Amino acid sequence: MQSPWKNDFPALKISPQKARISYLDSAATCQVPQVVIDEVSTYLTNGQGNAGRGMHGLSENASSRIDHCRKTVAQFIGCHTEQVIFTKGATESINLVAASLREQLKPTDSILVTALEHHSNLLPWQRLSEQTGARINILPIDSNGNVETDSLEPLLQDSCQLLAITHGSNVLGNHPDVEYLIKKASEFGVKTLLDGAQAVSHIPLNLADLGCDYYVFSGHKLYSVGGSGVLFCKDHKTLEPLLLGGGIVAKTTLERYQLIDSPSRLEAGSANLASLVGLAKAIEYVNSIGLDKISQHEKCVTDYLKSEIEGKTQFKIISHPSSNSLVSFLHPSIHCHDVAAFLASKNVAVRAGHHCAQPCLNSIGVKHCVRASVGLYNDFEDVDQLIDGVLLVEQSGLG
Ligand code: ALA
Repeated sequence: MQSPWKNDFPALKISPQKARISYLDSAATCQVPQVVIDEVSTYLTNGQGNAGRGMHGLSENASSRIDHCRKTVAQFIGCHTEQVIFTKGATESINLVAASLREQLKPTDSILVTALEHHSNLLPWQRLSEQTGARINILPIDSNGNVETDSLEPLLQDSCQLLAITHGSNVLGNHPDVEYLIKKASEFGVKTLLDGAQAVSHIPLNLADLGCDYYVFSGHKLYSVGGSGVLFCKDHKTLEPLLLGGGIVAKTTLERYQLIDSPSRLEAGSANLASLVGLAKAIEYVNSIGLDKISQHEKCVTDYLKSEIEGKTQFKIISHPSSNSLVSFLHPSIHCHDVAAFLASKNVAVRAGHHCAQPCLNSIGVKHCVRASVGLYNDFEDVDQLIDGVLLVEQSGLG
């Protein structure tokens, strides 16, 4: 089965002039379609400007590009434009929320996270705990990676101020039942933050319906260039700027400042225009195909990948059975870094290691694994190239 969209991506385009690359690392970062490259290139070719800092055409164009991106993001995730804050990535978005809570949390409070989290949705809460004395409580996971909710109610009642949970595991590929978790949290008046880094390119979103307080993701995991991130915030007044500087004040004297009353008050400094131009175009590209169609295609490729690993190799799959966009696996005796390095020599790109989710892997009794993650451009031939490499690794004597 071919991907009808592979040739939209110059880095992956099949051509007699270059070796075929099987790119199975989209959970780390996606490749960029030609339409996004062209949009960014045209924007820069015509001249960049600094948004909100000039009366000339290039500056005004930059401002309208940001407005356009904010509208495009808001429509894509189902929220109002004033609920969209731009950052440089999902990690910065989470850190912004954590920094804002620093003045609000008391030592008697707690924050609730799960054992499934990527480090970016764990370390900021650990530091916040060190800074404020607030406890971190954990919802454990079972051996498949399902979030266990037996202790949910008592932990939400433990002066919990925030439930921070992934919308998709970057190692196990499962999607916790966030609807249920948000509903329970709201029953106890607990705010919710969803880390959507691994969900936004696979699951259609309607944040107005979902009801979380914060949602974060990165543009480069949505077929855009690096450097853009989004923080959805139900009410931007609950947050304090991570950075102070230009573009965020109504009035400043030598002694004090007064911030403007819009989400831009959280976006000090010059915006990364090229990346926002890319993000808007990437969303338009994804919309032109449709996330439902994309996720069906990815499921088909992922199912084939699982059946080939199970049927033809000695590797054990450790990702969740419900995973529709990635497969994590390990060999009983060959180190995952040796596997990934060997695959790289065969033009197969995967990620290996602890995937910045050490507590998650520890919880299921694994130290490291190989991860093959799928994007809309992958096809059965990419899987065949991976499996050919894996079979060669098994024969190589590396174990
Ligand atoms: N969070 C990204 C990954 O899982 C970088 O690879």
